[in-house]
Amino acid sequence: SRHKIAIIVGSLRKESINRKVARSICAFASDKLDCEIVGIGQLPLYNQDQDADPPAEYAAFREKIAAADGILFCTPEYNRGVPGVLKNAVDVGSRPYGQSVWDRKPAAIVSASPGGIGGFGANHQLRQACVFLNMPVMQQPEAYLGRVNEDSFDADGCLKEGPLKDLVLSLAAAFADWVDLIVRSRRLLAE
Ligand code: FNR
Repeated sequence: SRHKIAIIVGSLRKESINRKVARSICAFASDKLDCEIVGIGQLPLYNQDQDADPPAEYAAFREKIAAADGILFCTPEYNRGVPGVLKNAVDVGSRPYGQSVWDRKPAAIVSASPGGIGGFGANHQLRQACVFLNMPVMQQPEAYLGRVNEDSFDADGCLKEGPLKDLVLSLAAAFADWVDLIVRSRRLLAE
């Protein structure tokens, strides 16, 4: 059966290139992965004082992450770091202490930017948070997608033919294999 993937997009923008890349990965890996983009824009800013009585939006978000076999992050870079809305979602999922929904979830991090560095700074900052959160993060292929802009997609939001599409195709295949490897190892260890 297909693995369930929660996709977190680090941009709230309607025409987000990162959301379009996320949708492409969903389409390319649809035989192996059942992907759903989980919204983060509705999550109030995390406040530790509210751990015992959290905002209503937190429960649904945490449940969707907890139910996923793997997590795919597709994010822009804001000022050389992780956009605040995405960091907030990571923090919301990580608490209350000892109840992190990120724990042990296989993940991949994709960053796309019109700039040449491809969101490297945000990508690695997020990777560091994932390492701390005990998430096995796919190492290769790396996904700093540079020079991505509206011209990279056709009118339907699909990637045009070319090296970017080839890289995203290989990413989708590698991520499906990565999630499968981790999920199946966990099952073996549990037997
Ligand atoms: C940016 N952008 C940007 N790009 C980049 O490569 N490195 C950076 O540090 C930043 N910083 C930055 C800060 C803020 C506040 C904004 C709004 C934008 C440009 C960014 O990559 C571009 O707007 C992308 O199109 C955003 O991704 P989405 O929304 O298209 O997915």
